[in-house]
Amino acid sequence: MRQAGRYLPEYRAIREKTDFLTLCKTPELASEVTVQPVDIIGVDAAILFSDILVIPEAMGMHLEMIESKGPTFDDPIRSQADLARLNTEGVTDRLQYVMDAIKVTKEKLAGRVPLIGFSGAPWTLATYMVEGKGTRNFDVIKQMIYTDPAAAHDLLRILSDSVVDYLNAKIRAGCDAVQIFDTWAGILAPNDLEEFSLRYIKYICERLETNGAPVIVFAKGVNSLEKLVDLKCDVIGLDWTMDIGDARSRIGNTKALQGNLDPCVLFAPKEKIKQEAERVLENYGTGSGHVFNLGHGILPTTPVENTQYLVRCVKELSPKYHR
Ligand code: CP3
Repeated sequence: MRQAGRYLPEYRAIREKTDFLTLCKTPELASEVTVQPVDIIGVDAAILFSDILVIPEAMGMHLEMIESKGPTFDDPIRSQADLARLNTEGVTDRLQYVMDAIKVTKEKLAGRVPLIGFSGAPWTLATYMVEGKGTRNFDVIKQMIYTDPAAAHDLLRILSDSVVDYLNAKIRAGCDAVQIFDTWAGILAPNDLEEFSLRYIKYICERLETNGAPVIVFAKGVNSLEKLVDLKCDVIGLDWTMDIGDARSRIGNTKALQGNLDPCVLFAPKEKIKQEAERVLENYGTGSGHVFNLGHGILPTTPVENTQYLVRCVKELSPKYHR
């Protein structure tokens, strides 16, 4: 998860010469950055370099990646009337550069590892589109769901249809699996979670033409896993706040689990990294259905050698759990 990025000097070298969106929109460069972690840290899957916010950008919103501030839109959606500004027809056509990047990446990977494509979930996309920038309290989007729920639902519906189209195109273009990121699901009260987040993820999962590609749902901060078991997906991603063994016993064998090492463990000394990796493997226990992963993205100040060490540890330690 976010395995490409600023912690890699090879990524920073490309970013010095290219702004973030140009990188996303140039298949040759996006594919190069996608393959970097496969070559440098030795992970078992590549995740296509892109961003969840290319969908609102393709709808006509002006996206800027501001160093130290994160992603911003200077023209946020604040009302029903603002929805009319969104260019919702032909969104996937304007994202053809993503499909081109998939094709080039698949050539570069030459079957070495599978390629994961992704999308933001409607709720998380809406959060960025309405807030316009990073936020601590999510008060602007919450104001919308409490004062004008109809506008919020209209936005979420528009996004859901685009996500279905977009992920289906990614699968057709060659992605071997797709992941839906609902990074901000955890900020919602239980009722609202159902109404503004999960309902739309369910809608999307039911409409994916997977052709056998596994579907991964990562709803960060959602610890009531029982709410996710009925989704038509294959894998549930977990952040690090849950015991993965406990999650396994609650979920049963209906879904695989992906996770869930705290990415900050990568700042620890080597012995601690190994111990914590083994703890995750041990907690899940024996049998198949575990995709070892971090519980969120790699942070920019993470030492590269620690990520390499973690991958080595997992490769060395995990086989005994898979008998
Ligand atoms: O290699 C990979 O894992 C694929 C790359 C990837 C990026 N964004 C590239 C990126 C993925 C999977 C994403 C998803 C994404 N983008 C999410 C969902 C997953 C999550 O982490 O919760 C979200 C919420 C976003 C929105 C976004 N884009 C944020 C919050 C940021 C970080 C801002 C910052 O300054 O740290 C981005 C920018 C971004 N997307 C970077 C990368 C490598 C860093 C920006 C840079 O190079 O300047």
